[in-house]
Amino acid sequence: MDIWHIRGGRRLEGSCRIQGSKNAALPILAAAVLCPGRCELLHVPKLSDVDAALRILCHLGCRVQREEDRVLIDSSTLSNCAVPHSLMAEMRSSILFLGALLARSREARLSAPGGCRLGKRPIDLHLMALRRLGAEIREEDGELLCRTPRLQGSEILLPFPSVGATENALLAACGAKGETVIRGAAREPEIAALAGFLEAAGAQIHGAGSDTIRICGFTPRKCVQYRIPGDRIAAATMACAVVACGGDVTLSGAEPGQISAVLHFLNAAGCDIIPDNHALRLCAAGRPTAVGPVVTAPYPGFPTDAQPLLMAALLRGRGRTLMRETIFEDRFRHVPELNRLGARIRVQGQTAEILGVEKLHGDTLHATDLRGGAAMLLAALSAEGESVVLDEGHIRRGYEDLDLCLEDLGASITLEH
Ligand code: UD1
Repeated sequence: MDIWHIRGGRRLEGSCRIQGSKNAALPILAAAVLCPGRCELLHVPKLSDVDAALRILCHLGCRVQREEDRVLIDSSTLSNCAVPHSLMAEMRSSILFLGALLARSREARLSAPGGCRLGKRPIDLHLMALRRLGAEIREEDGELLCRTPRLQGSEILLPFPSVGATENALLAACGAKGETVIRGAAREPEIAALAGFLEAAGAQIHGAGSDTIRICGFTPRKCVQYRIPGDRIAAATMACAVVACGGDVTLSGAEPGQISAVLHFLNAAGCDIIPDNHALRLCAAGRPTAVGPVVTAPYPGFPTDAQPLLMAALLRGRGRTLMRETIFEDRFRHVPELNRLGARIRVQGQTAEILGVEKLHGDTLHATDLRGGAAMLLAALSAEGESVVLDEGHIRRGYEDLDLCLEDLGASITLEH
């Protein structure tokens, strides 16, 4: 159990470097299976989800070495195409090994993935996309048994731009003969990052980052080097922390363009935002102003991952903010915990109404999921008095040294393992 101790009410000041992106690193680690040689990844964040992906690679027979933020993977020794349930259950992204293994070995055996409980989170679109490429998939005793004599390029139409399904289709398409076109693809920056890695590894891909992606071929290279881009949700987290607590903070390694939907609302809440070539300065003072309405949507819309974070920033806002969650059915589980601090949030169906209060007070909270847990930390930092956030490891799945980053900015926060 992680125990976060927070004494709230301090302004944040200084600068902070944004970690490598979790949601870019995880699909790229799965993609390493496709490169039967040496793969060097830089700026890999130190996260328990990344550790889980590295454990899967080891289990598959790959050689893995990690030194600080540099990871070396040699997949030439890959000897296994089954991932046991215990490893699959650690995170959602384990499902991406399905597309990668099919492309490399034409066979994969794994079970349903784990990850944050945000709603139903089916994998039907992943399986549909892989079947379109010729994969035969049977579900037996909770296991997915997948094989194919040969993957064949095809046209895949996604009825919803699922990030994971787009990534699985992209990975599998690299092992297919002929051209694949993914229509209705997700446009998140992490898709472009995965495509960037695959191109460095020898794939010909056009249109990643748009809703139509073409994969024309893949001639694996012996050596690949790739730097993981900055984490836009970690950047959004720090930006929301500044608005929650007040302060003057510069984030380096952040791409403001990737979080413009979040910055738009932070600016409307009264925060000055000064972008500066891969860095971002945020200045906020006093109580924020209510904004809205905020509606989550696929990229480039307002990210569902930032919904709990912006909510935490607006708990002391002057006025009323409405937030509608359209991506996941059950993504307000942090709300009752935030209300324990004196916040006034009412949820009706998929909409939350935040009635700003003048002051929050400390209490003991239970982290419900990764971003919900981070939102609780931000709310506790902006509350008067002491709070404790009890967490079964959700927050460390996605944030590297979050306690140290916030402490460097002047927050009073300690993490007890
Ligand atoms: C990824 C991100 C997660 C983010 C989410 C939406 C990673 C590791 N995780 O998750 O942080 O919150 O994108 O931006 O990158 N769906 C289906 N069938 C499917 C797949 C998805 O119905 O086969 C639904 C989901 O239940 C959900 C919606 O589509 O309601 C979005 O899911 P998706 O875009 O796939 O999210 P993830 O890839 O799981």
